[in-house]
Amino acid sequence: MAGSGFGTVFRITTWGESHGKALGVVVDGCPAGIPLSEEDITPYMNRRRPNGGVMSTQRNEEDKVEILSGVFDGKTTGTPISMLIRNKDERSRDYGNIAESYRPGHADYGFDAKYGFRDYRGGGRSSGRETAGRVAAGAIAQKLLRMLGIECRAVLDRVGDVPAEDSAAAEDLVRQCREEQDSIGSVVRCTVSGMPAGVGDPVFEKLDADLAKAMFSIGAVKGLDIGDGHRAASARGSENNDSFYIKEGKVAARTNHAGGILGGLSDGENIEMTVYFKPTPSIAKPQKSVNKAGEEIDLVIHGRHDPVIGARAAVVVECMTAVVLVDALLRNMMSRAEEVVSFYRRRM
Ligand SMILES: Cc1cc2nc3c(=O)[nH]c(=O)nc-3n(C[C@H](O)[C@H](O)[C@H](O)COP(=O)(O)O)c2cc1C
Repeated sequence: MAGSGFGTVFRITTWGESHGKALGVVVDGCPAGIPLSEEDITPYMNRRRPNGGVMSTQRNEEDKVEILSGVFDGKTTGTPISMLIRNKDERSRDYGNIAESYRPGHADYGFDAKYGFRDYRGGGRSSGRETAGRVAAGAIAQKLLRMLGIECRAVLDRVGDVPAEDSAAAEDLVRQCREEQDSIGSVVRCTVSGMPAGVGDPVFEKLDADLAKAMFSIGAVKGLDIGDGHRAASARGSENNDSFYIKEGKVAARTNHAGGILGGLSDGENIEMTVYFKPTPSIAKPQKSVNKAGEEIDLVIHGRHDPVIGARAAVVVECMTAVVLVDALLRNMMSRAEEVVSFYRRRM
C-alpha cells in the first residue's frame, strides 16, 4: 500500500494489520548515538494500550516492542531501526459480520472501492492499532527532543463537552454512552516548549503544514487548531497579532495566538495544538448500512471498541508531533552555508 511512510530525513514507515501476526515500524534517518532500549519505548506504548478503564476498549493488547535492528551497545547506530509488536489478542471471529458489510463512519467501503477486497479483521490497516508503530517511532523522536531540551506533551482535554480535568464527569459521560451502545467525540491538546525559532521549511513543508498532515493521518481526527486556529477567523488583526518584545536578549511574544508558528517557521514560543477526534465509528447500537452485494441491511457490530478515541490517541498525537519536529530540526541543519562549512571544517 502506498502512503505508509512519513517524513523526509527522519522517516518512519509503519506496516502490519490489526489482526495479522505483528505490526511495526521502520525508522530511517535517526542519528547515531542516541541511548536506546526497549524500556525507553514501553512507557509510551503503555499510554496507548487499553488499560481496562472506562475510557478504553476491553481488548487486551500487550504491545511489547522488540527492537530488531539499528541499535548496538545500547545506542542507535544511524542505520534503520526496525521495531516489531506482535499481535496477541486476535479475536477475528468478533469481526465476521463486517467482512461483507460496511460500518458507517469507518473505512470499510472505501477499502473495497479502492482495492476490491480488504482485511476486515479489526479494520486491518485502517485500525487504530496501526498507531502502535507510530508511538514506538515517536518514543525515539522524543529522546532526541529531550537531548535538545525540547518538551512535547499531549493530553486528553475534553470528552464531548466535558473537560477531562473533571475526570468523574468525563467518565460518567463515557459510561452513559457505553450503556446506550454509543460512543463520543473528544479533544486532545498538545504543547511543545523549548522549541528554537526558525525551524520549518517554506513553502510546501511549512511546520504547520507538516503538523496538519501528521495529525490528519491519525484515524478519526477531524480538526486541528494551531494557536487560536479557527477562532482567528472572527478576530481583528489588532487582537490576533502577538506583539514582540525583547526578553533576556531574545525576541519574544507577549501573547501566543499564533501557537508558536508564523510563516511556517517556529517563532520560539510554545507550539500549541488542539486536535479534534470524532466519536468512535464502531458502535454496538444497531445501524442502517449496506453489504457488499448492494443490499440495505440492519448492522449490529460485535467486537470490543474504544468508546472514546482521544483517551488512547493523546500519546499518538504527541508521538507524531515529535516525529514532525525531529524531521524539521534535522532538515533545518542545512539552512545556512556557514554552518554546513563549519560542520565539515571540523572533520577536515
Ligand atoms: C488510537 C485509536 C484507536 C481507535 N480505536 C477504534 C475502535 O476501537 N473502533 C473503531 O471503530 N475505530 C477506532 N479508531 C478510529 C478508526 O481508526 C477511524 O475512525 C477509521 O479508520 C476511519 O477513518 P477516519 O475516521 O479518519 O475517516 C481508532 C483510532 C485511533 C487513532
